[in-house]
Amino acid sequence: MKMILSILCLAMIVSSVGTVYASDSNGQSVYTKNCAACHNSGVMGAPKVGDKDAWTPLIAKGVDVLANNAIEGQGKMPPKGGNMQLSDDEVKAAVEYMVEQGK
Ligand code: HEC
Repeated sequence: MKMILSILCLAMIVSSVGTVYASDSNGQSVYTKNCAACHNSGVMGAPKVGDKDAWTPLIAKGVDVLANNAIEGQGKMPPKGGNMQLSDDEVKAAVEYMVEQGK
């Protein structure tokens, strides 16, 4: 029984990863793949997504400034979160998603 459950869990994880990879222009999926590793937990001082106190002063800078900082890198964050394959628009879409969560 335990075995069947873990196989089921694995199948679910694999299929959800599959959907994330399917659509790339979507801010949420770009975020999940490239930014969540740091911004979900706030490692190295990354502003945690959904943490309004962290995001209010950032949002005040304006989405364009934030997107630019994310594209060029800032502090301990590498440019484009370390994935140079991303287009500027994809990074911007992810930033817009993050800003939405922090409002
Ligand atoms: C390796 C960990 C890491 C990854 C991956 C990462 N970030 Fe960050 N991010 C950080 C850290 C750390 C900071 C805080 C930088 C500072 O102010 O010193 C930060 C700050 C930011 C900020 C605030 C910039 C500002 O103007 O203060 C934005 C926006 C941002 N990240 C967006 C993104 C996006 C979009 C991605 C994915 C494409 C991403 N990050 C991936 C670690 C990461």
